Amino acid sequence: MLPIEIDNNKLNDSKYWDKKYTSNNTNWDMKSSTPVFKELLSKSEFISPCRLLITGSGKGYDAIEAAKLNYDVTTVDFSSEANKIAKEIAGDLSNKINYLQTDIFDLNKTHKNYFDAIYEYTTFCAIDPKRRKEYVNVLSDVLKSGGKLVALLFPVDGRGGGPPFNIDIIEFYKLLSKKYILEFSTFKINSIKPRAGKEVLQIYKKR
Ligand SMILES: C[S@@+](CC[C@H](N)C(=O)[O-])C[C@H]1O[C@@H](n2cnc3c(N)ncnc32)[C@H](O)[C@@H]1O
Repeated sequence: MLPIEIDNNKLNDSKYWDKKYTSNNTNWDMKSSTPVFKELLSKSEFISPCRLLITGSGKGYDAIEAAKLNYDVTTVDFSSEANKIAKEIAGDLSNKINYLQTDIFDLNKTHKNYFDAIYEYTTFCAIDPKRRKEYVNVLSDVLKSGGKLVALLFPVDGRGGGPPFNIDIIEFYKLLSKKYILEFSTFKINSIKPRAGKEVLQIYKKR
């Protein structure tokens, strides 16, 4: 029997994501900032105000929290609808956030070694799993040496199908281990109820 090829090409198309936003089919959206990220920003143990990139930023709540604390925040999301909504939600603070409506996979053409830190949440799980290595390589290209990759990995509960596609923590570590040192990893985080036990916070430092 031939193996079944799943067509995830639609995920590479910003219009697929635009439609999700215009039809309000955004079940990943928490309607507020991520408690885990907010806590991390306030503790400043691993990151402090710097040039921060937030990938697949959606409605941009986390960017607002970082901007309030004087991070130099850039968000990247190729959905024009997501960007439109994010700017509306941010209001006056939108002037303090650099919204890039670009394909993440092109970011290394314009922002090589540019960011001090990157925050990744629910984007690695939303792209075509075949492109995961490419995604990690782009992030590495745009991060400065010594820069931090803050990855809140969801979902790690072994589910099938997607998006969101399951993240195998060991595979994720292997993808990064050549270019990064893992500094911190924990399941003991302030997750929202439906995601409790299904996500892990990891902080990597680029070599
Ligand atoms: C599942 S949503 C998560 C949004 C946000 N992180 C959140 O938690 O609300 C994934 C987001 O990544 C964006 N995205 C997916 N692939 C992308 C790509 N190649 N370049 C830029 N943005 C992308 C989508 O437009 C969408 O807003």
